Amino acid sequence: MKITVVGTGYVGLVSGTCFAEFGVNVVCVDKDREKIKKLKKGIIPIFEPGLEELVKKNIKEKRLFFQTNLSESLNGSEAVFIAVGTPSRRGDGHADLSYVYAAAKEIAKNLKNYAVIVNKSTVPIGTGKEVHKIIEEINPQLEFDVASNPEFLREGSAINDFMRPDRVVIGSENQRAQNILKELYRPLYLLETPILFTKRETAELIKYAANSFLATKIAFINEISDLCEKVGANVSDVSIGIGLDGRIGKKFLHPGPGYGGSCFPKDTLALVKTAQDYKSPLKLIEQVVDSNKKRKRSMYRRILKAIPKDNSNKIISILGLTFKPNTDDMRDSPSLDIIPSLVKSNCKLRVFDPEGMLEAKKNFLKYDSKITWCKNAYEASENSDALVILTEWNQFRALDLNKLKKLMKRQIIIDLRNIYNPREIKENGFEYHSIGRSI
Ligand code: UDX
Repeated sequence: MKITVVGTGYVGLVSGTCFAEFGVNVVCVDKDREKIKKLKKGIIPIFEPGLEELVKKNIKEKRLFFQTNLSESLNGSEAVFIAVGTPSRRGDGHADLSYVYAAAKEIAKNLKNYAVIVNKSTVPIGTGKEVHKIIEEINPQLEFDVASNPEFLREGSAINDFMRPDRVVIGSENQRAQNILKELYRPLYLLETPILFTKRETAELIKYAANSFLATKIAFINEISDLCEKVGANVSDVSIGIGLDGRIGKKFLHPGPGYGGSCFPKDTLALVKTAQDYKSPLKLIEQVVDSNKKRKRSMYRRILKAIPKDNSNKIISILGLTFKPNTDDMRDSPSLDIIPSLVKSNCKLRVFDPEGMLEAKKNFLKYDSKITWCKNAYEASENSDALVILTEWNQFRALDLNKLKKLMKRQIIIDLRNIYNPREIKENGFEYHSIGRSI
């Protein structure tokens, strides 16, 4: 089987490579010549554990190819995946579909044989229908179908999420399209992965509803953690206690400084907008969006509150800049709110992130004079008034507390990911602030 994947970002590159690993012949296409040149050599533009090895392996085994010429890449392809970016549109929060429509137009002009055009990118409800219309208008003679096959990949575990998914969702309009996609995902049958075949609009809504529900769980436990602080409860035990109910489930109930990333913030906003357009507002998700925004701002105030008041400029250490561990992605990371606020409160910052330093520097150029970019957590803690854990990278989970104590000016730790045991930290002579766990 041969397929084309248009777009080599997180979704396109991971999907294309994993399909190749399934034994499919895959051509990944991108307009970015530089990127394609690097990909042909197995040089990956993103940090995604295991991806580089898998790309190199499938290039070597001649199942994975990269090129900039869409027309050539389409020859003989039975499925053409559109996996281009769908960022939030400036100003109104709707998904920007210009890249999706541009890809659809180019496919319409160049496709010579029947193929299923598959929206892999997260696209608003009704986009599949719109893509079908665009292609039909440009090339009325063409035989094709349009399907929806949303991805549920988490950054940092994208390969595992693709190879061992909880489910595959396919929205298609006829048996012919369904059969091609069924064949493509055949390797998952061995894992007995549930494959849901449904209408296109239903598949499109499933993606938004899934992300919005997960975002709701996070906003919920973040607000519960605030209440725990007020009533003297322990949010970690609340998470365990409710998560043991099979109807709730224990995942995505870890309180933190607010969710970030390239999906939750964008997808919740896009779904809220779509619902408003259809006069069926999603009030709950509107509250989730608002709650999350407020959460990031409240974290900055919490840090300031933990630092002794005197008129000297404070040095604050920040461990973790990316929106989550095992990625270099800074999109909507809480650090993008917290760092500027601390700088504006006359704090000097010493920061470290295992993978995100390069990406982070691009986001904090105007604060550069107030930020020292450090090589590790200990260098970041030198002479600091407080150390903030913002992203729960594994290497921050067992820091040498004695070493930290000697390096820091004040022994204050503000753990916004609850990765430490409060008792252990206090026994080591630190003032310890975490979330939802008054000791
Ligand atoms: C998410 C969805 O999980 C994935 O299915 C979808 O395809 C893309 O969006 P991703 O954004 O990569 O994946 O990361 P995820 O692991 O879901 O975390 C999203 C945000 O929620 C991060 O900022 C993370 O720190 C936060 N989070 C997650 C919490 O604060 N608490 C939790 O319990 C889980």
